Amino acid sequence: DIKGFVFDLDGVITDTSVFHSQAWHQVADKVGVTWDDELADALKGISRMDSLNLILKKDHKENDFSEAEKEALATEKNDNYLKLVNQMTPANILPGIQDFLATVKAKGYLLSLASASKNSPLVLKKLGLSDYFPKAVDPATLTHGKPDPEIFRRGAEILDLQPGECIGVEDAAAGVQSINAAGETSIGIGDPQILSAAAINFTDTTQLTLANIQQRLA
Ligand code: BG6
Ligand code: MG
Repeated sequence: DIKGFVFDLDGVITDTSVFHSQAWHQVADKVGVTWDDELADALKGISRMDSLNLILKKDHKENDFSEAEKEALATEKNDNYLKLVNQMTPANILPGIQDFLATVKAKGYLLSLASASKNSPLVLKKLGLSDYFPKAVDPATLTHGKPDPEIFRRGAEILDLQPGECIGVEDAAAGVQSINAAGETSIGIGDPQILSAAAINFTDTTQLTLANIQQRLA
């Protein structure tokens, strides 16, 4: 029986995946790496430093920067990102998400957050959704990022649930892999080709309802 939901944040609860992309795009331009949609998708769900390394690798620039220079580039990206986050309001919650959270909470399902972002507490606060997620995995404590199962496993653990009792909700291919490897039921929200490994696929957040989930699991 499903007893809880482990949520990704960026690109599922809110449209911040676009902000992450914009902020990285500026850094890519600066270091002379060509930006494209494929790179943007590959970065979804990936930690800050891993993202920078992927960007540099794309045009074989991974050895062109010292660790200190990389730290500076990652900080610059985060500064770009925070400028966008600071303008956020509850209007940035993706359609249907607030209703879904309220419904599952009222029905007694447990909720936790499994976001790779160190900015997730701030983002939840800007959205007015902090109260839904008193339980969140702290990404600073992880040994491995998505697609490793660690983060989604911990998302179940902090709810005192077994992975089999949880549904994980993701917009990133790396995130869906993490959910599956953790032994949870995966919902992928977005392009069904990119998220083909998901147990359930919804093309957008308006489809995320308990009725739709029950229908797909039946
Ligand atoms: C993930 C995003 O949720 O968090 C990635 O999908 C991002 O794009 C990662 O790089 C880390 O975020 P932050 O805010 O700690 O740099
Ligand atoms: Mg995401």
